[in-house]
Amino acid sequence: MKVPFGDLTREMADCGDEIRSAVDRVLASGWFILGRELDAFERAFGEYLGAPERVVGVASGTEAIQLGLMAAGVEAGDFVVTVPNTAVPTASAITAAGATLLLVDVAEDGLTMDPEALRDALARERPRLGNRLKAVVPVHLYGQCADMDPILEIAREFDLAVVEDACQAHGATYRGRQAGTIGDFGAFSFYPSKNLGCYGDGGAVVAQRPSDVERLRMLRNYGQSRRYYHDVKGINSRLDEIQAAILSAKLPHLGPWIDSRRRIAEAYAAHIGAGRVRHPSVMGYGEHAWHLYAIRHPERERLMSDLEARGVGTLVHYPVPIHLQRAYADLGVEAGSLPIAEAAASELVSLPMFPQLTDAEVAHVCDSVNAVG
Ligand SMILES: Cc1ncc(COP(=O)(O)O)c(C=O)c1O
Repeated sequence: MKVPFGDLTREMADCGDEIRSAVDRVLASGWFILGRELDAFERAFGEYLGAPERVVGVASGTEAIQLGLMAAGVEAGDFVVTVPNTAVPTASAITAAGATLLLVDVAEDGLTMDPEALRDALARERPRLGNRLKAVVPVHLYGQCADMDPILEIAREFDLAVVEDACQAHGATYRGRQAGTIGDFGAFSFYPSKNLGCYGDGGAVVAQRPSDVERLRMLRNYGQSRRYYHDVKGINSRLDEIQAAILSAKLPHLGPWIDSRRRIAEAYAAHIGAGRVRHPSVMGYGEHAWHLYAIRHPERERLMSDLEARGVGTLVHYPVPIHLQRAYADLGVEAGSLPIAEAAASELVSLPMFPQLTDAEVAHVCDSVNAVG
């Protein structure tokens, strides 16, 4: 049996007709940018998140983070704190906003920002950086929230804005609140393989304060307040009408799809018992949305090739932490400086995880890991 790591063609069985009629509707309208479809999706996703009228659709998750930082007042020369074990776009967004990264390590369980490491770094750097230390970007990794209460408390203490990277966390909760609605801003990606994905690039920013929504709308549209009148320096980052219509068609499926992800995660947790496999930690403070199921294994490469031989697709999220990427060598953060993220990077393997996996496929993944793990 072959079990792919992901397979977006299977979504068509769930919602192909709705998607085709959504795309046809946009084609017939002749209107492709900043129109009714975007308004409707922003309203619907805002309702889903419990953040009505506070969602602004943008062109990608990367730019959602960038725009959140820009709206928070981050400028060239500022510093933004984040974690090393994230998708590189988290770092790209900070760089695009003109800021320099300040990396802090993650907690061993959950692999999200360690609030104590955050506090230590801020206390150490504040005297040197003063008010150029502007914001913190916690990453809700693999569909599980970072521990937001202490992070928010520390951010308030140091007068920093909080922009949540919720790009992997649609539908995750933290103490009853939806990921992306907890900090000053929340950033979502609708990259096709996300829990809610479009069929191209897309993203959204959620503003905590209604007063920031207008600013985000200007920032994503060259800083325009009305046509040809530019109040702030913005960029071009708009969720187009076709992608918005596709997302509106898919949104009603998000809840059932996350339920399926949870069932698959439960099956992996219950049935994979191979000796050297470490399962992901599930934190007690919220609901995991299982974008990825990333196990750890001391012989990661060997495990991956043995699984491939049994037809099981795997990927690594992520093999190289930000500070060890060539592009970020200028940060001057040496190997060994962020040991928890570095150790995880050498052991993580993500198993197949998408809502349409069949019971037989899930069983085959479990049997295969048990046989070679
Ligand atoms: C944690 C994280 N941050 C940011 C992004 C960037 O999103 P996008 O690919 O939509 O720009 C992604 C997804 O790729 C991600 O997984």
